[in-house]
Amino acid sequence: MALEQQKIVVMGGSSGVGLSAVARFAKAGAEVIAVARNADRLASAIEGLPGRVGGIALDGTDREALDDFFTTLGNFDHLVLTLSGGEGAGEFATLDLAALRRGFEAKFWPQLEVAQASLPWLRKGGSITFVTAISARIANPGTSGLAAINGALESMIGTLARELGPVRVNAVSPGVIDTPWWNAVPADFKAAVFQQQAEALPVGRVGRPDEVAQAIEFLVGNGFTTGTVLPCDGGLSLL
Ligand SMILES: NC(=O)c1ccc[n+]([C@@H]2O[C@H](COP(=O)([O-])OP(=O)(O)OC[C@H]3O[C@@H](n4cnc5c(N)ncnc54)[C@H](OP(=O)(O)O)[C@@H]3O)[C@@H](O)[C@H]2O)c1
Repeated sequence: MALEQQKIVVMGGSSGVGLSAVARFAKAGAEVIAVARNADRLASAIEGLPGRVGGIALDGTDREALDDFFTTLGNFDHLVLTLSGGEGAGEFATLDLAALRRGFEAKFWPQLEVAQASLPWLRKGGSITFVTAISARIANPGTSGLAAINGALESMIGTLARELGPVRVNAVSPGVIDTPWWNAVPADFKAAVFQQQAEALPVGRVGRPDEVAQAIEFLVGNGFTTGTVLPCDGGLSLL
């Protein structure tokens, strides 16, 4: 399906994977609305992108603001959900469960709030693409909390695809991707993880945000794919 005539909302569109998706969709000729909380960062992120790109500052945890946003936007074709927080990692024995709860509040709940709020305005035959994480499936020690957040989302994809059809519902499940998300962790920890990944992964390096955006673009554009969780992980789930 050509993306030229399509109106696409990218929630989390000011950074990393979401920003790369915005750039890809705009290049393909779609009208793109990038959404994130920080208005200044959003404006500078999308400034200069070629194509039809707009930005709206909005918190995906605020249901009233979401309902207002979608009502003002009106009918549209595709929703992409790339927002997340950063909490919930750590070995279970010492895991701060309050931090894990905040991790759910920052990713699981807003992704569902946005998806549900969008439904009255989403075209039949359009799509919702969630972005989860490969931690949902790789049983990596120290990531049980992240597995819970992302596994909860991934376990809903098939059911939502059946319930919401002909709207298609899919997810991309990334491995380690070099985005600003990693700026929140200590630099030496980030460097150690990236090096360990480069040594262990079949592809020999961490991922780039545009590679995940390309996987998202496939799921948005392919009208016969629904209920799919597509890994984009450089082979991490094979180890
Ligand atoms: N990077 C990785 O290694 C990796 C690995 C596996 C999975 N993932 C997943 O991939 C997705 C994208 O990650 P990323 O690395 O691209 O993250 P990122 O660079 O930190 O970008 C996150 C985006 O979400 C927005 N956002 C966060 N909370 C929001 C909220 N409540 N309402 C609206 N916008 C919100 C942020 O802008 P504001 O802060 O201004 O709101 C930003 O635009 C996430 O779901 C992440 O869990 C990433």
